[in-house]
Amino acid sequence: MTRTSPYRAEKEILDLRQQLDKHNYYYHVFDDPLISDAEYDRLFQRLNELERAHPEFASADSPTQKVGAAPLAKFKTVQHTLPMLSLSNANDPKELSEFDERIQRFLKHTEPIEYSVEPKIDGVAVELVYIDGRFTVGSTRGDGIKGEDITLNLKTIRSIPLQLRAGARELPQRLEARGEVFLSREAFQRMNREREEGGQAVFANPRNAAAGSLKQLDSTITAKRPLDIFCHGAGTVVGASLRSHAEFRDAIRDWGLKPVPLARQCRGIEEILGYRDEMEIRRDELPYEIDGLVIKVNDNELQRRLGEIARSPRWAIAYKFQARQAATRILDIQPQVGRTGTLTPVANLEAVRIGGVVVKSASLHNMDEIARKDIRIGDMVIVERAGDVIPYVVKVLEEERTGAEKTFHMPDHCPVCGTAVYREEGEAAYRCVGISCPARLKESLKFFGSRNAMDIEGLGDKLVDQLVERGWVKNIADLYGLTQDQLAGLERMAQKSAQNLIDALQRSKDSTLPRFLTALGMRHVGEATAKLLTEHFGDLTTIMEATEDKLIEVREIGPEVAKSIARFFGQDENRRVVSKLLQAGIRFRSEAKKTGALAGKTFVLTGGLDTLSRVEAQRRIEALGGRVSSAVSRNTGYLVAGSDPGSKLKKAQELGIRILDEQELLKLLAT
Ligand code: IVH
Repeated sequence: MTRTSPYRAEKEILDLRQQLDKHNYYYHVFDDPLISDAEYDRLFQRLNELERAHPEFASADSPTQKVGAAPLAKFKTVQHTLPMLSLSNANDPKELSEFDERIQRFLKHTEPIEYSVEPKIDGVAVELVYIDGRFTVGSTRGDGIKGEDITLNLKTIRSIPLQLRAGARELPQRLEARGEVFLSREAFQRMNREREEGGQAVFANPRNAAAGSLKQLDSTITAKRPLDIFCHGAGTVVGASLRSHAEFRDAIRDWGLKPVPLARQCRGIEEILGYRDEMEIRRDELPYEIDGLVIKVNDNELQRRLGEIARSPRWAIAYKFQARQAATRILDIQPQVGRTGTLTPVANLEAVRIGGVVVKSASLHNMDEIARKDIRIGDMVIVERAGDVIPYVVKVLEEERTGAEKTFHMPDHCPVCGTAVYREEGEAAYRCVGISCPARLKESLKFFGSRNAMDIEGLGDKLVDQLVERGWVKNIADLYGLTQDQLAGLERMAQKSAQNLIDALQRSKDSTLPRFLTALGMRHVGEATAKLLTEHFGDLTTIMEATEDKLIEVREIGPEVAKSIARFFGQDENRRVVSKLLQAGIRFRSEAKKTGALAGKTFVLTGGLDTLSRVEAQRRIEALGGRVSSAVSRNTGYLVAGSDPGSKLKKAQELGIRILDEQELLKLLAT
């Protein structure tokens, strides 16, 4: 970098910080970025360079300071200025009605009370203290009176601004915002997948993963976990008057913090129950876990009059959704070979219904997990289904043991190909190292054809099994050499279905680089990493030639991931397969979709769709150059309202945004 004069450097640094703060705000609070990730990275890198060249202008508030700091010996204790209370629970509609009646009686109200109702986020409660807009201390709830000082860890969370935004609303002298730190389901699954493959202990659920991440004494570890936060209440506030919960939500949004999404103002119990019904249905669609609703009296003055009882506010209550747990028996445990050769022990369960879904198996993750929970064949266990996460065993019901239970041992040879199984030092995972293990190949093929990868419709499990067993497909590139006649001769196939598959293979050749990279199934490289690689390097050859050092320079790619990618492309066999795939005609559409009919248009989908699934709708909008965002803002082009649209529709109407129903969307997509 050319050395800039100190005066100009300072000016540019301040300007870049302001720009990045603004982009963080649009990205996190509205989920509606103004610029691409690549542009953001460019600004970020430039600021980083300038700050390094001019340490005299360093600042703890800079957006570059989200990478963690030197490890602590232990956390200090922080006293909360107001105790962090807990909530009492209502377990059914009757108890909710009783809550409402209690409040009416207490306040001598006959009119329906106005409540602010929000999802109950299944995360970790924290408090953030802002003094004159600057984030100064952050702590855990602890025992409600005293918590642990986890400021350094909280500073690494991207949606926690180090400085609040002034402008729309004057900054308070002191703001204690309370909220819930959580991990999205997707982030949790990705993290666990990587831990499972790396042989580390996995987290049981997103909440444990978030809690574990916040407890790190080394904040550089926390910085690598994609934690997020929603704020749901205030402690002490000085210098701002907030008259209601709704006003609190508006205020913190102006200041740059995220309120809990999907909140609804409800009058009286009927509206609350309606909202509950809606949320029970939408629960599985949300990208994060919620375990119920929190119902709060909206008006702060009424809250004050109601006060608290037994360390819980009298003005709020938690309505918990039914836990998705059930007791069942482990009939057997069998190792399953994944595409990277990892042997994952899987429990075959006596079929049991949990939250409307029949569960027959549960992942036991790895041998350390089995030992830690002392899980044996024949045990009665509690199984939990959390959102779309694979069911897992919460615990063994030891009191149900008869003595006939058997301990499970990992076989020392792969159950599929017979190659020796081995365990790398310091890892919990056992791996089959057989390079041509059919189980690994089958998994690779299924993954290659899956939706988020090459999306080859019709390449089902049964078909893949046959292709591998007949020896027709020895690597993923062989798929493109299959003929219609060959396929038509397989079980459950006819000329027509064979033709369909050939067509699907043909269609899959028109791909994108991130999809292709994902489809290769490199260890640690999912969709998100594949996108980062593409943005950074631009084309496949450059990625294939990148050294570990070059790979580490990519934002969010660490040494382990870099090693995995370099190792993958360092193997002649893998390079050969990639070049065969390209020879077969796979091409990458550039992601610059500026030419599509919907280029530059942002869509928000809300409510249920009939004809299209959400994923499909998103894919088709994106194929035409449009973008799908989850929150309505001024930048939203269209709101697609399905059945039961909820609060987004209201907001869109307020902002005068064009509203489409599903039929109109389909029409737009067809043009
Ligand atoms: S309001 C008195 N709103 O649930 C505390 N809490 O079981 C008032 N929680 O400690 C809290 N989502 O950490 C509130 N939308 C939400 C919430 C929420 C999750 C947590 C919070 C609280 C715990 C009570």
